[in-house]
Amino acid sequence: MANSIETFPFPFTKDQYEYTNNSSQLNPVRCVEVTGDYNSEIQLKRKLIEEHPERCYRSFRHSIEGQWEILKLLFHEIATYEPDHFTFERRGKEYRFQNLILGEEERFIDRDLSSIDSEPFDLAGRHVQEDLILMGDREGTLFLDAGQLCFPSNWSLAFAFGLDFKSIHTPVPRINQTGFIEKVERFIKRIRPGTAWERNNWSVTITNKLDTPLETYSEWGRSRLKVTEENVEDLLHLRVEIQRLYRLPLTNDVLFTIHTYLLSLKDMATNNEWLTRFFKNVETLTDDIAEYKGISLYKKPLMNYFEQKVKKD
Ligand code: HEM
Repeated sequence: MANSIETFPFPFTKDQYEYTNNSSQLNPVRCVEVTGDYNSEIQLKRKLIEEHPERCYRSFRHSIEGQWEILKLLFHEIATYEPDHFTFERRGKEYRFQNLILGEEERFIDRDLSSIDSEPFDLAGRHVQEDLILMGDREGTLFLDAGQLCFPSNWSLAFAFGLDFKSIHTPVPRINQTGFIEKVERFIKRIRPGTAWERNNWSVTITNKLDTPLETYSEWGRSRLKVTEENVEDLLHLRVEIQRLYRLPLTNDVLFTIHTYLLSLKDMATNNEWLTRFFKNVETLTDDIAEYKGISLYKKPLMNYFEQKVKKD
């Protein structure tokens, strides 16, 4: 399920990659984005949630207040920015949300769990393309209190659920040793209520699947071993996550949204500037980051491909 090159958020601004907090404040404040792939991605999300609920949804009871806040926030946001496709209104105690793309209507009473079939966070996530994470801000840190995660890049919600910010990032090389992750945590803790920030993260997959959880690594991960100079153009996809952080004004929780985009190497190769940038970033990756991102296994055939391609053009 690759995205088109015209709307792909190409992430590289330099020729060399390092972990940075590349966050910028958003104006207007937006937590989610509706794209041309809405229908197919929502159908896939819902299928995954139905088939693998334990993998795709986790929440603590104490996150319910934040969940209600997020449900109303996201329904309000998409109805405001996509009025042709969504409506959201309040009549007395009842809220009514209409999804005109899917021909669906949700009616609920604020903070009354008996008025909805799933938890508020779960319901919100079924109408937006993003994966959603709710971080509780307490005891001087942030805890993963709820998540609806369908399209992870090789991590597990079941594993990260309940962990604090620093522990979640333990598998990432360097950032725990350099003080980087503490700095990022301080940055998030300082985000003011009602404001939103955006950053991107990239990785590479040898599949066009959006859902690459740790739990099914044995199914999608082994394709990394099959990469050759000849087939890499067909198999490899650049994966970019647009991540947004929003401080909820009422509960003070933090909403973290992840919108995932995929671009096939074949499509990227039609843009020489992008291909060269990507090549330089991969070429100069340190071994530990290349290993973490899963690139080490096929870095050689990928580099050979690039060299052939550059020579030909
Ligand atoms: C509260 C919001 C956030 C959550 C819940 C979160 C969660 C995660 C998770 C689950 C991973 C994968 C870890 C693994 O391999 O098991 C990750 C990776 C990472 N995170 Fe965060 N993160 C958040 C915010 C941020 C921010 C604001 C930064 C800013 C720099 C950041 C930097 C990174 C980096 C550099 C990686 C490695 C990514 C890669 O190389 O592909 N995270 N994060």
